[in-house]
Amino acid sequence: MDTLSVAVAREEAAIGRQAIVQGWVRTRRDSKGGFSFVELNDGSCLANIQVICDGDLPNYETEIKKLSAGCSVTVSGEVKPSGGKGQSTELHAAEVTVHGWADPETYPLQKKRHSFEKLREWAHLRPRTNTFGAVARVRNTISRSIHNYFQEQQFLYIHTPIITASDCEGAGEMFRVTTLDLETIAAKETKIDYALDFFDRPAYLTVSGQLEGEIYATALGKVYTFGPTFRAENSNTSRHLAEFWMIEPEVAFAELPEDMDLAEGLIKRIFADVLGDCSEDMQFFNDRIDETVIATLESIVASSFERITYSEAVDLLQKSSKKFEFEPVWGEDLQSEHERYLTEEAIGRPVIVTDYPSSIKPFYMRLSEDEKTVAAMDVLVPKVGEIIGGSQREERLDVLESRMRDQELDPQEYWWYLDLRRFGTVPHAGFGLGLERVVQFTTGMTNIRDVIPFPRTPGSAEF
Ligand code: 4AD
Ligand code: MG
Repeated sequence: MDTLSVAVAREEAAIGRQAIVQGWVRTRRDSKGGFSFVELNDGSCLANIQVICDGDLPNYETEIKKLSAGCSVTVSGEVKPSGGKGQSTELHAAEVTVHGWADPETYPLQKKRHSFEKLREWAHLRPRTNTFGAVARVRNTISRSIHNYFQEQQFLYIHTPIITASDCEGAGEMFRVTTLDLETIAAKETKIDYALDFFDRPAYLTVSGQLEGEIYATALGKVYTFGPTFRAENSNTSRHLAEFWMIEPEVAFAELPEDMDLAEGLIKRIFADVLGDCSEDMQFFNDRIDETVIATLESIVASSFERITYSEAVDLLQKSSKKFEFEPVWGEDLQSEHERYLTEEAIGRPVIVTDYPSSIKPFYMRLSEDEKTVAAMDVLVPKVGEIIGGSQREERLDVLESRMRDQELDPQEYWWYLDLRRFGTVPHAGFGLGLERVVQFTTGMTNIRDVIPFPRTPGSAEF
């Protein structure tokens, strides 16, 4: 007898098979005819399998009639055709083994619906709900799709470090990594002696794998990273996490237009794969979370992204009759209200904004001929805003050094990064895609905390 997942046991092809199915009870209903229906879910798909438990099973009165939401069971029996709505099969139990009970008085998921806020307090139980199961499966498909996209184009997957000494984005939003005893230092009120620290120097959790990605791209051509990144920005928004996953391709001999094509191709590939592979979960999001989500993904796959410069974007914003909280001014960063206006109202689909002022972008972006802007690109999508940030990199040693000095960075500390420009420098470009932002957009979930298993945000790291 084979062990089948609920997803497989629900397929018509399983009819007639003797099978074992294992999972957690969602509901139990007793029929007047002296038998019971048990809805079983194992996370392999959104839907449950209906298990028919006859009254003559040896543990029918003692156990089966006490099953409630959350109990774990193994059922063996025969898969038979079902006349029930929304299912073509059901499992007729020959044997039911109960592994674990879930006291209905205290099991938190007893009630059908809880708010997402409430479920965040139960991060250890929320994957047992329909929504969080669906998010986990879509997140998995997106991750696979990203790897496939790059692997099929011969990109090498590079594991860049999580502990680093450099601040790639220069925004000073890094978490410190130390083995020094903070309490001893505080008690003595002494100066910190980094010679006594683990790495002999200040060290941090990385905000981006880009700089190390560049090292590998300028040796191996096309690479990408896919790993966790950390930002200690104190922004309690629905789009920011302190720990999030980022995908960062880096390509040698590439300039900004190829970088944009790579980014647009990646987004479309992800949406096409999710629509194809997660249709049941996507229908759930469409019914329960956001009724436009499937149509939006379909239309994005079928159309091309608008490409405008930052200057054109500021123009559009200034000419609009919309009242913004922050007035759009050339030379200042686009606020999220501006990004959303551009992609949702002015253009109505994803838009790539290029050529931002150099003063608001990091040191590594390539300075353009006008000497005012850099070869940057941000991909903006409705509702979420910025989903990708990228650029062509500054490959000229002298320009890079002067950009670093402008931003008060010490070129000495980045000697290895500058070496890439000293020895065999090449034009190159890359970008970073925030995994949670793309899961958020794909599912229509409004808060980024609900698309990562264990969200880390200011004041919150319980699980
Ligand atoms: O625009 P960012 O800061 O770009 C970089 O880090 C570059 N080094 C990437 C590169 O060129 N290799 O971040 C890239 C993306 C953003 O567009 C956004 O999707 C996501 O990372 N992101 C966040 N996601 C969740 N929470 C946060 N706090 C995020 N900060 C950035
Ligand atoms: Mg950015």
